[in-house]
Formats: sequence, structure tokens, C-alpha cells
Amino acid sequence: MNQYIADNKDRFINELLDMLRIPSVSADPKFKQDVLRTADFVAQKLREAGADNVELCETAGYPIVYGEKVVDPSLPTVLVYGHYDVQPADPYELWHSPPFEPVIKDGKIYARGACDDKGQMYMHVKAFEVMMQNNALTCNVKFMIEGEEEVGSANLATFVKNNKEKLNADVILISDTGMLGNDTPSITTGLRGMSYVEVEVTGPNRDLHSGLYGGAVANPINILCQMIASMHDENNHITIPGFYDNVQELSKEERAEMARAPFSLEKYKQALDLPDVHGEAGYVTMERNSIRPTLDVNGIWGGYTGEGAKTVIPSQAFAKISMRLVPNQTSEEITEKFKKHFESIAPKSVKVLVKPHHGGEPVVTPTDSVAYQAAAKAYEETFGVKPVPVRSGGSIPIVAMFKSELGLDSVLMGFGLDTDAIHSPNEHFGVFNFMKGIETIPQFYKYYAEMSK
Ligand code: BES
Ligand code: MN
Ligand code: MN
Repeated sequence: MNQYIADNKDRFINELLDMLRIPSVSADPKFKQDVLRTADFVAQKLREAGADNVELCETAGYPIVYGEKVVDPSLPTVLVYGHYDVQPADPYELWHSPPFEPVIKDGKIYARGACDDKGQMYMHVKAFEVMMQNNALTCNVKFMIEGEEEVGSANLATFVKNNKEKLNADVILISDTGMLGNDTPSITTGLRGMSYVEVEVTGPNRDLHSGLYGGAVANPINILCQMIASMHDENNHITIPGFYDNVQELSKEERAEMARAPFSLEKYKQALDLPDVHGEAGYVTMERNSIRPTLDVNGIWGGYTGEGAKTVIPSQAFAKISMRLVPNQTSEEITEKFKKHFESIAPKSVKVLVKPHHGGEPVVTPTDSVAYQAAAKAYEETFGVKPVPVRSGGSIPIVAMFKSELGLDSVLMGFGLDTDAIHSPNEHFGVFNFMKGIETIPQFYKYYAEMSK
């Protein structure tokens, strides 16, 4: 197999570059045709790799690409999930090369989606080709590649509920996360959930002269800032009543285990050009960004932000706020608590509106399962060291649904790095990582089949 991979390396990379040229931004309707073209591209590549019954499953939004290879019904079945949509590339001016004109520089592929998730998803398509061409497909495989992950996977949730038979499998396999380092492989064993809301604060019925009215009426931006600031106390705990009620605390032993994962605070600060880190008292950085819930403003706007100065009290102020959730919080519970609290702290001088966006539930995956053990052996085989289990702070909302609706655990075999700048300008994915993924995935199939016997 490794010979085949080496012989076809350039083609594998070039095919990925072709896909990266299509701007499949699911959030922006302007890119609708491109998102659809990307779905066709993935379907075509699955067919070429040898998948049967490849189809675009229509949804209320973008289609889900499905394909399968059933070798023998008595073998275990792996359901591969990934996404072909990408985040918006803004701000374009901060990219060193255009986001949809991929370039390879210093061994890294630069493009929006290079790592999240086109590059990682495509490793599975190529690993499948490798196994097919080498008579080494030891499990049945089903692919389910969606186009709406970056906007909350609402239609995939419906698809999963309505297609339980079709999606019947033994385990879900996903590469849409990261690992600690190229010489420190890790397997993600948890994801945070998400509660996303938009808030609106309204003061006077029109923008006002800030001299004639300033000091006498509420300024919605001032008020919104006060309200947001009050939602963390001096220890950076979130002040929403009941916010931590259901949070699962880790035992001393579990926290000690976590602390064994290699991490350098100095390097972390250096990489981000930070004089110091910031977060909840009583927890270290690796805990703050994985096992603890958060509340963050993602965007805030209102008033005048153009050239020069304009003296104005705006009529309205807005913010988008996300809360990352941990077991056993639920997005419904937290959205409700946020709404109640936000309305309760608003002064009488303004009106407020809370609009819930998408939500998703947190998950923790087992490390004692056959699938996890098979994944660990696969990494060990190709990296030469045992992977470390790590809980991640990111979210893939559908993973909790796979468990609740299909009863299936996911194995999160990520090959990205935190430094790959996913969602940021200059997103990239190492050629090393792409090829390592293609090498490691067939090993998973091998061990998973062996160990399932
Ligand atoms: N692939 C990421 C999630 C991720 C990245 C998890 C790295 C762990 C490590 C995914 O595409 C993503 O960006 N998810 C969103 C949530 C979604 C509802 C918009 C996120 O985490 O913000
Ligand atoms: Mn992703
Ligand atoms: Mn993403």
C-alpha cells in the first residue's frame, strides 16, 4: 500500500488542490453554485475511487454526498463523516495568497478549507482508493459528506433521523479535529457543545445627536457593553444563574491525567504574541479550552464606525455570542438560561431581544472501545509512538447526534495542528499531515477488522 501511496502522491495532492479552488462557503448564498459544484466533485471522486451507490441526497439545504462499498455483510461497517463546506475567507486582505488559489509553501498547502475539512475529508477518499487498489479493504465502508457543517448541520440532523437503516454501521470515523504535534499524535476524545445567540439592544427610536441627548437617554452600545461585561465575574466565572449547574467536574485523577499531555505555556503565548493568558480561576489553559464552558462575544456592532468622527447616540446595538458547553450541559438549557438572564439584567431604559441560532451538544468518546484501540494502534504504526487521548474545545454538533440517534460512537482521528489557522486567514495543512492521514487510515481499517473478530 505504501508504494501505491508514494507513486500517487502528486496526483492525490493535485486533486485536493482542485477541490480547494472551489469556494464552497456555506454561510454565504453568493457561493451557492460553488458549494453545489463541490458536492459533485466529491461524488465523482468517490465513484472514481470505487464506491457504489454514490448519490447526492437532497436536503432543505445543501446535499449530502453518500457512497458505500459493502464487501461482506458479516464484516464491520465504518461510516465516514466529513464536510465539504468551508468557512468564509474574510478578511481577504490578510491572506498572503488568495484563499481559493491554493499554493504549497514550505511543505504546507495554503487555502481556505485546506485543513478544515476538505484536506482531512479527502484523506478518507484517497485512503479508500488505496485500499481498493490493493485489495485491502477489510471493512464495509459508507461515506456521508455534508455541506453545512460550518452553519450548524441542521439538515444533516434530519437526514440522520430519517435514514437510520441506510446509515447502519458499527462506528463513525471522522477526521475534522487536530493532534498535538507531528511527533506527538493524539486522538480527540471529546468535543464541546455550543449555544449560539444574537442579541439586540434598542434605545431611542432613531439615532440621536450625542450633544443634545447625551447623558439623558440610554446609549444602547454603552448598555450592551455593561451587560456583556457583567456576565463574567472577577474570577472569570460566568454569572448566568445556573450556568454551571449540570457541569460535570473532573476528578483529581482525571485532571492529573490531562496534565500529562505535553504543553508549553511559553510556546503557546509566543505563538499568539500574548503577554499573558486569560481565563477561569482554578483551571489551567488546557482545561480552560476543553473541559470548561465559556461565553464569548464573536462580533459586536452598532453606531458609527466610518471615517472621521460622528457624534451620535445610536438607536441600536448588536452582538453575536457563543457559549461552548461541556457534559452534561445542554444547548437548550443554556440558551434558555442565557435568554432569561440577559432580559433580567437589561435596564428599564432599553428594550432587548435574544435570538437563538444553532446549538449542539457536547460529547465524550470512550477510550476502551475496540474502535479507539484500533485507531491508537494505527497511529502507533505510522508515527512510531502511542497517541495521547485529548479532549478538544471545538465543536462538531453532529457527533452527539450520531450517538443519540444511531447509538454509534465516533472515533476522531484528526491530523490537523492548532497552528493550521482553521477559520483564520492563511489556513493551511501540512503535506506531511495529508499523506500521514492517507497512510494511517487504512491501518485503522486493518486493526478494526482484526480486533472486532
Ligand atoms: N472542524 C471544526 C471543529 C474542530 C476543529 C474541532 C478543531 C476540534 C478541533 C468544525 O468545522 C467547526 O469549525 N465547528 C464549529 C461549530 C459549528 C457549529 C459552526 C466550531 O467549533 O466553531
Ligand atoms: Mn470542520
Ligand atoms: Mn470549521
